[in-house]
Amino acid sequence: MYEDFAYIYDKLSFDIDYEKYAQNIKDLCKKHQVGKENMLELATGSGMLTRHFFDDFEKIDALDISPDMLKVFAQKYDADNVNLIYYDMVSFINEDIYDLIVILLDSVNYVTEKEELIELFENSYKNLKDDSLLVFDINSEYKIKEIFGSNCYVYEYEDIFYTWDNFFEDDLCDMHLDFFIREEGDTYRRIREFQQERLYKVEEIKEILEKIGFSHIEIYDEDDMGDVKPDTMRILFSAKKEKNE
Ligand SMILES: C[S@@+](CC[C@H](N)C(=O)[O-])C[C@H]1O[C@@H](n2cnc3c(N)ncnc32)[C@H](O)[C@@H]1O
Repeated sequence: MYEDFAYIYDKLSFDIDYEKYAQNIKDLCKKHQVGKENMLELATGSGMLTRHFFDDFEKIDALDISPDMLKVFAQKYDADNVNLIYYDMVSFINEDIYDLIVILLDSVNYVTEKEELIELFENSYKNLKDDSLLVFDINSEYKIKEIFGSNCYVYEYEDIFYTWDNFFEDDLCDMHLDFFIREEGDTYRRIREFQQERLYKVEEIKEILEKIGFSHIEIYDEDDMGDVKPDTMRILFSAKKEKNE
C-alpha cells in the first residue's frame, strides 16, 4: 500500500480542497482555544494538508507508515519546524506533547481492526496535552456502501488511465486499483495498488472516544461543515481532551 502509488498520489488528489479542509480545522482550533505550540499529523502522506499548517504551529511532527509517501513529502517541502516520522500511527507514543492531533482523508478507515482503532485513539489521548484537540475524518457509511460498494470505476485523464474495482463484504471494502501512466514514447507504466478500508459507524466511534475520556465530541459534514446528512461523503470529528481535575 502506498509504494509506487505514492508517486502519483498528488496528481490524483487534484479535486481535494486541502486549503478548505485545513481552514475547517483551524476554525475548530480557534473555537476550542487550542494552543499553537505542537501539532501532530498522523498518516500525513505527502504533506498536502500539512503544508497549510507550517506557519501555524511552532513545531509539527508528521508521521506516516509509508516511506514512499514521506519521501515525496521531503522532496516537496523543506520547513524547519517539521519533523517527519516513519511509524505506525496506531502505536505511536509521545505523551502530553501536542495541542492538536489531525488524521485526515479517511486514514482512520485504513485501520481495519476495531481493537487497533481503540489503541489509536487511546494513544492519541495520551499524546495530547490538557485542553487540546483531536480532529479526524472518516468515509461515511453511505460512501463506503453506496459509492465504493462492490462497484467498478474507470477513469481517464490526460496521462493516467485507471480502473478501480471494489468488493464490499462484512464492513470491509477491498479496493483493487490498476493505474496506467503514460510515459515518453507513448508507452504506459502499470502500477497496481491494493487498499482496504473498514466501515465505522458514527455511534461506534463516539462511544470509543467517550470511553477513553474525550469530551465535546462534534461531527460535521466535512464538505460544508454543516450537519451530517444521509448522503454526506466525509464526516469530520473533533474531540477535546480537557484537564482532569
Ligand atoms: C488517503 S492517504 C491520506 C494522506 C494525507 N493525510 C492526505 O490528506 O493527503 C492515507 C495515508 O495513510 C497512511 N497510513 C495508513 N495506515 C497507516 C498507519 N497505520 N500508520 C501511519 N500511516 C498510515 C498511508 O501510508 C497514506 O499515506
